Amino acid sequence: MVSIPRENAFDSSLAVLKDGFTFIQKRCQRHGSDIFQTRLMFQNTICISGEEAVRLFYDPERFVRKGAIPKPIQKTLLGQRSIMTLDDGQHRRRKEMFMSLMGPTSIQTLMDNMATEWQAAISRWQQRNQVVFFEEVQEILFRGVCAWAGVPLDATEVHRRTRHFAAMVDAFGAVGPRHLRGRWGRQQSESWMQGIIEQVRSGQLTAPDGTPLDTLAVYQEADGQPLPARMAAIELINLIRPTVAISWYITFAALALHEHPDWRKRLQTGNGEELDWFVDEVRRFYPFAPFTGARVRSEFSWKGYLFPKATLVLLDIYGTNHDPRLWEQPDEFRPERFQNWQGNRFRLIPQGGGDYLTGHRCAGEWITIEATKVALRYLTGAMEYNVPEQDFHYSLSRMPTMPKSRFIIRQVQPIA
Ligand code: HEM
Repeated sequence: MVSIPRENAFDSSLAVLKDGFTFIQKRCQRHGSDIFQTRLMFQNTICISGEEAVRLFYDPERFVRKGAIPKPIQKTLLGQRSIMTLDDGQHRRRKEMFMSLMGPTSIQTLMDNMATEWQAAISRWQQRNQVVFFEEVQEILFRGVCAWAGVPLDATEVHRRTRHFAAMVDAFGAVGPRHLRGRWGRQQSESWMQGIIEQVRSGQLTAPDGTPLDTLAVYQEADGQPLPARMAAIELINLIRPTVAISWYITFAALALHEHPDWRKRLQTGNGEELDWFVDEVRRFYPFAPFTGARVRSEFSWKGYLFPKATLVLLDIYGTNHDPRLWEQPDEFRPERFQNWQGNRFRLIPQGGGDYLTGHRCAGEWITIEATKVALRYLTGAMEYNVPEQDFHYSLSRMPTMPKSRFIIRQVQPIA
């Protein structure tokens, strides 16, 4: 057996918070290796990066998710005992339910809702001197996804509930007040959503046929039992919260348009494929998910390295999307790199890799791509706006990260 390069530090948990998105890549470069081991939260952890590592990580025979997600992340971002923590038959069954909501007609309905919300937002913004784009986009997405999900939403609660959902996302790499805001957001949202599931089950509320609310309210486990109302609420939130999270990409997309005005023209005059390249480059280039984790199912060796049973393994998402062996000049924003892209499930992994059904690859990848495209169509074809001087800098040690100013726009005018 070859020994896995080891970090000297007794525990690297603080270094994760300090180095953030670059934690794994930096150390791989230092060790001259795609693999190293360290201690995180006092447990031995193997970190891996690059395409071969992605292929290994998404081999369903090798890893399980049980016990891989730290409690603080379950209590903010993901919810406890949700699909992300399931394995094998139970995961497969639940993932099929999630993917059944991702058909073209369903996604088109969601995009039509989003388009209606963009239209309404532009009219509102016209009345104001300036808007904080990032926060406004969260409300657009939240209204659109609740309508799609069949979740009733009173106009007076939109602002408050959107903040709760955004807080869950904003908490994932945080300690202190940001973490506490995320926990509060989750508690409030789970109670709200559990109440709605219970109302549907008791007949007080009708969930429109085939909507996610309807699907989750009646979904049964393999033993024929419905999900406990809290669990159904958590999984419904697992559709709504990440849709609100697309606001991070949409804001980065708006920043990219601002910093690459030639691309604004190309999107306005192109035949549509440029939009696909642009969105893939936004998802590759800008930081969102830093890494994902799993535990070794049973001992195996890979390239001569031993992976002992139950060891935590982290796959480097950000570093693989910026790996110079896979991407020419990875730190440049160049959508044209996707011109002859044939697709590859193990190279472009902003939302995980491998297979949707047998693995944990993001169920909402198509929604993410389409919702970002809708936003870009509005930004380039339906509105004019000014972008004043502001601080666009985003820190790679904050997870998740965002331009400091949250992207302010002024003098919004619809294009007739
Ligand atoms: C899983 C990222 C949007 C639903 C994941 C994973 C990542 C991810 C990294 C885990 C992959 C793994 O551990 O192997 C993102 C990003 C998004 C996004 C960056 C956009 C900003 C969405 C949307 C939805 C969604 C819009 C649903 C509407 C899910 C679900 C899972 C998941 C249900 C769990 C899949 C499973 O465990 O099998 N996502 N996601 N995500 N995502 Fe997303």
